[in-house]
Amino acid sequence: MSFDIDAYRRTVAPVQFDDIDFSVFGERPLSPETLRALRFMHDVESHTVCYLRDLLLTHAHEDPRMTTFLTMWNYEEYWHGVAIGRILEAHGEASEDERIGPMRQRLGVKDRLSPLTSAVGSAVLGHDFIALHMTWGAVNEWSTAAGYDRLATREGHPVLSTLLGRIAKQESRHIAFYATEARERLGRSRKARTVTRWALKNFWAPVGSPVMPVEETQFVLEYLMGGTTGREFARRIDRKVAGLPGMAGLEVVQTALDARGIPATDGDVPVPAPIRPTPRTAGLTAVR
Ligand SMILES: [Fe+2]
Ligand SMILES: [Fe+2]
Repeated sequence: MSFDIDAYRRTVAPVQFDDIDFSVFGERPLSPETLRALRFMHDVESHTVCYLRDLLLTHAHEDPRMTTFLTMWNYEEYWHGVAIGRILEAHGEASEDERIGPMRQRLGVKDRLSPLTSAVGSAVLGHDFIALHMTWGAVNEWSTAAGYDRLATREGHPVLSTLLGRIAKQESRHIAFYATEARERLGRSRKARTVTRWALKNFWAPVGSPVMPVEETQFVLEYLMGGTTGREFARRIDRKVAGLPGMAGLEVVQTALDARGIPATDGDVPVPAPIRPTPRTAGLTAVR
């Protein structure tokens, strides 16, 4: 079943937060751990426009249906960053431009190489590169939705849960688009299946990790994907990925967690893991 892009664009809107009383956090603040995870999420959501920049260098820009989705997707992700920023502000922390400016400066050359790799990957693989992007995007949107779900449950703060629930609802439409596109594009091209499987197996890295400091990624993975419950979330994502054409048997999320020493059960003692290098190929990191 194809994704109804027209219905999507007619209903796209900033995530609602004008009815939320953020002063509640003054009386009942969030834990330092959850705030740290929210800083990560704020920065990664706000980086979406840079992923869009890279995506548009591929053949995706030739497909008006694709560009319609990407336009709306970027808009919604932008507002996710703003909404999370309001929570940070309510705790007396910097948000939006105050965080985003220094982040973009910090990325420097790494970020400037990203579009180049995307363009080269697209030139070499043609339209099959889009299949890879869509699959990558599906994994990342599944991971993002799981992260919000887990964060809301861990913290158990009603206001946070309300806002994250609304964001997750929008993420579910992003999932629908990416997964549908991935399924269709992988299904009709053997080359796309081969390349995508190889790329996911060798280069997939958790959402945000290519642009966020290693220690922040490590913290968020342990907090949200660590232990028995976190591992179950990872398994669920892996099962969805494995259900896509040509992806059977892949366990990309669990493999990434293992590579970083993230505990798989509540009894595990975290070990400082050798951090797997982040993928240098921007085309492979272009969808967070
Ligand atoms: Fe988002
Ligand atoms: Fe999303």
